[in-house]
Amino acid sequence: MNEELIRSALDVLGNSYAPYSGFHVAAAVLAGSGKIYSGVNVENASYPAGICAECNAVAKAASCGERRIRSIAIVSRDSNGNDGGYTSPCGICRQVLREFSDPKDLKVVMARSESDYREMKLEELLPESFGPENLK
Ligand code: THU
Repeated sequence: MNEELIRSALDVLGNSYAPYSGFHVAAAVLAGSGKIYSGVNVENASYPAGICAECNAVAKAASCGERRIRSIAIVSRDSNGNDGGYTSPCGICRQVLREFSDPKDLKVVMARSESDYREMKLEELLPESFGPENLK
């Protein structure tokens, strides 16, 4: 499954719109229904208006009615097309993932290729997190 998720992210990496940073990111999430949703980073001339790949993938899943994210794969390339290393989700993306997951279960797959990746649980990346349960 990790390989399929990584492949889905790699498939859309060319759509990344990153003319300012030159850092191209794609993500694919496995949602509760079993479907995969992918997204890329979309930057903006007004820099803070840019959106991360992970947030776009989660927003796409949620827009299709999904309310559970089981795992996510992230891939990146620099402006020369070289792989960008094991890309870890930024703080805002970690919180967005938290909304739709149990942090103990959500797998975060940081991939350089389909066969070369690191895998962590969201809980490790965002310990003691604040989530929907805290507002019940
Ligand atoms: N970026 C992501 O898409 N995801 C991350 O988790 C890290 C950063 C994007 C944002 C910006 O377009 C570019 O990478 C450089 O920060």
